Amino acid sequence: MSTTTPTSATAAGTDGGPVRESAAHAFEVRASDTARSDAERAALMEAPVFGTVFTDHMARVTWTADGGWRDHRVEKHAPLQLNPAAAVLHYGQEVFEGLKAYQHADGSVWTFRPWANAARMAASARRLALPELPEADFLGSIEALVRTDAAWVPSGAETSLYLRPFMFASETFLGVRPAREVEYVVIASPVGPYFSSGVKPVAIWVVQDYHRAGPGGTGFAKCGGNYAASLLPQQEAYAHGCEQVCFLDAVTNTELEELGGMNVFVVGADGSVSTPPLNGSILEGVTRSSVLTLLGEAGREVHERPIPLAEVRAGLEDGSVAEVFACGTAAVVTPIGRLASGDFDLTVGDGETGAVTAWVRDQLTGIQYGRAEDRHGWMHRLI
Ligand code: COI
Repeated sequence: MSTTTPTSATAAGTDGGPVRESAAHAFEVRASDTARSDAERAALMEAPVFGTVFTDHMARVTWTADGGWRDHRVEKHAPLQLNPAAAVLHYGQEVFEGLKAYQHADGSVWTFRPWANAARMAASARRLALPELPEADFLGSIEALVRTDAAWVPSGAETSLYLRPFMFASETFLGVRPAREVEYVVIASPVGPYFSSGVKPVAIWVVQDYHRAGPGGTGFAKCGGNYAASLLPQQEAYAHGCEQVCFLDAVTNTELEELGGMNVFVVGADGSVSTPPLNGSILEGVTRSSVLTLLGEAGREVHERPIPLAEVRAGLEDGSVAEVFACGTAAVVTPIGRLASGDFDLTVGDGETGAVTAWVRDQLTGIQYGRAEDRHGWMHRLI
């Protein structure tokens, strides 16, 4: 069993170093001619369901094999024009990211560890044979878009502007090879909690007959195909009254890997905290890395280790597992109150939010919303 006390500079990216270069100045702003009025925007932002409301603009950069990255712009959020033979529609050559802009009490707007997202997007792009977007362009696209659509950053509790950078093969070509034309786009969406139930314990269906990723596959990359592969088991989860699926490893089918769209943590009754190790098929979550850092600094034993499902089942039955939680940019830190599958149905603790889950959520959101000191240099000011 490995015990780790991660520092803030884990593999998910390094923070707090010298101020990073941003290419925000390179983005030409072409204002939308259909921007919503103040009243329309206020109505849309009242209680947005996650991922349903979008701001007036999007950031965009185009890449060609001959010309590299060019035409940095912020333009109207509008449908993309694609030839039906565009490679992404056939072979799924696509990667994406997720990060948020948070409004602080003084009206300033910040984002969280965007360098880690830039690095992860570059790693995902390499795996999908897409071009790597320079970090300065990634940061610049976020800054330029959020500054243009500043009025869309919500200020209520637990709200933020969710940013979705993505990159896809736009070349019109049906041959199977890396595309020679690629688009990078960032869209933005004001959001509240990811789950429709709000910030409450969710039920998880442990799927034992499908896998999300295997050795040498694309599990560590944030590519659309990983999420597409989770949708059928996700339907199974819904049918059993669960909000998300938890996948097991593809080699032994015995160890927890990750949920359909977030990482998973298990808290022992002895106070120790475990999460599956980054074995190549698990997404290297920025929230996962931050949670490990915060818990380790608080003096907790934190382990990145294989977690057998049998151990969790036995632990929930005999009380040695006290809490289970999920984490991710969208989900933040979400308590898990029930773990079920074809052959078991177990309540986690008393089914309510556990103390460690609540503590780490509070610490993390404290930093993100500017209520707590940013000791690690994780926050990056946008406005
Ligand atoms: C995120 O947490 O940002 C993600 O991309 C996960 C997705 C399921 C919303």
